Amino acid sequence: MDYTVKNNIEKYIRENLKESRLKHTYGVAKIAVELSELYGSSVEKAEIAALCHDMFKNISIEAANELVKKYELNESVYLDNLNLSHSKLAEIAARERFGIDDRDILNAISYHTTGRFGMSTLEKIIFVADGIEYGRNYPGIDEIRKKAFENLDEACLMLLEHTRDYLVSQGVSCHEDSLKGIEYFNKLLNRRNNG
Ligand SMILES: [Fe+2]
Ligand SMILES: [Fe+2]
Repeated sequence: MDYTVKNNIEKYIRENLKESRLKHTYGVAKIAVELSELYGSSVEKAEIAALCHDMFKNISIEAANELVKKYELNESVYLDNLNLSHSKLAEIAARERFGIDDRDILNAISYHTTGRFGMSTLEKIIFVADGIEYGRNYPGIDEIRKKAFENLDEACLMLLEHTRDYLVSQGVSCHEDSLKGIEYFNKLLNRRNNG
C-alpha cells in the first residue's frame, strides 16, 4: 500500500474529525486488522478502508447536503441524513481526493453503514469492526464481539438485525441494502447449516 495515501488520509482525519470520532476510527482500524489476520484478508486494505470510513461523519448537515446535491446522490435517501450520506461521501472522497481505485476498499467504505447483499470479506470486516470496536457499548455487543472472531457471516447478520431492530424501535425505516443483507446472510447461513 502506498504510504503517502495512508499519510494523507491520516492527516485529513486528524484535521477534520472530533477527538471521539478519531478514537473510534483508530479503534475500527485496530479490530479490522485483527479480523483481517484471522480471516486471511488484506491488512493494508482494511486499514485504509477503516481510516476513511467515517471521514465525513463530523461535517455539518448543510455541507453534507451540498455534497449530496453536487454528486447527485438520491436526495430522497441522503438529504438531511448524515447517518447514511457520510458513507457515500467518504467513498467519493477516497476516490477523488485520495486516489484510491481499489473497488473492494471503496465498497467497504460505501456500505459500512448499511451492509448489503453479497458483501466481500473486506466489506464484512469493516462493517463488523465498526459495530464492535472497543469504544462501543450497547446491549448484546459482547455476544456479537465474540461471534466476530468465530464466524464473520453470523456476526454480520447479528449486527444487521440489531441495527434493523434499533431503527424500528426509533420509528425509522431500515435501508433496503440492510434488509437485503439480512435476507442474504440468512440464506447463506441456513444453506451452510443444512448442507
Ligand atoms: Fe460510519
Ligand atoms: Fe464508524
